Amino acid sequence: MGRDVIIACDFSSKQEVLAFLDKFQGKKPFVKIGMELYYAEGPSIVKEIKERGHKIFLDLKLHDIPNTVKKSMAVLSRLDVDICNLHAGGTKRMMEAALEGLTRPDGTRPLLIAVTQLTSTDQESMENDLLIKEPIDKVVMHYAKNAADAGLDGVVCSPLEAEKVHETCGKDFLTVTPGVRFADGDIGDQKRVMTPAEANRIGSDYIVVGRPITAAEDPVAAYERCLKEFVG
Ligand code: C5P
Repeated sequence: MGRDVIIACDFSSKQEVLAFLDKFQGKKPFVKIGMELYYAEGPSIVKEIKERGHKIFLDLKLHDIPNTVKKSMAVLSRLDVDICNLHAGGTKRMMEAALEGLTRPDGTRPLLIAVTQLTSTDQESMENDLLIKEPIDKVVMHYAKNAADAGLDGVVCSPLEAEKVHETCGKDFLTVTPGVRFADGDIGDQKRVMTPAEANRIGSDYIVVGRPITAAEDPVAAYERCLKEFVG
């Protein structure tokens, strides 16, 4: 899979997400389904969007004991999505178990990527709440390295970290980056943002874009603009 724009479909009902996707008439953007939609509609919404021909990043961020994650990944693998994810904080053993669970009897599997430290976690909350005293950049790179060592395909990270992740884990290790905004657009609640063109320059493999597309007056035009800026 090459560089692509993934639309974060942060909707809470089947009706809303399908009405949104209907606007794309014939185009099949790569979409991200997160907890909100999955918990509202269950696995059937994943199957329905897949049947419409979209690639899917199922963003459920698993984090539990290795055996539970392994069995859950085996279930998710049957949904035939393209990317799944988990929290690197669950340890290397959990990540290895996840990969095992995700691998189908014929040896194929969706890509598996890890969340390092959430971008909502800052140095202060990491030190005070998690008792992790190292600098956050070092922690993020350490978690990315753990994910690579466990055999995962990449990480979700801030676009500002993508270059360093590639240096640390190799250029083929995927960086999937949210926090993307148009130069003339609203930042919203994101703190550290990049434009699609900047994300391209620093080497993001996939950008995850939500509101700049979903809340646009013309979502299809916003998606096309994003693709043009990011992929060229
Ligand atoms: O609307 P917006 O473009 O901010 O959406 C970004 C998407 O990426 C949301 O689904 C959000 O949950 C997700 N995300 C993020 N930052 C992370 C991890 C995921 O914004 N560190």
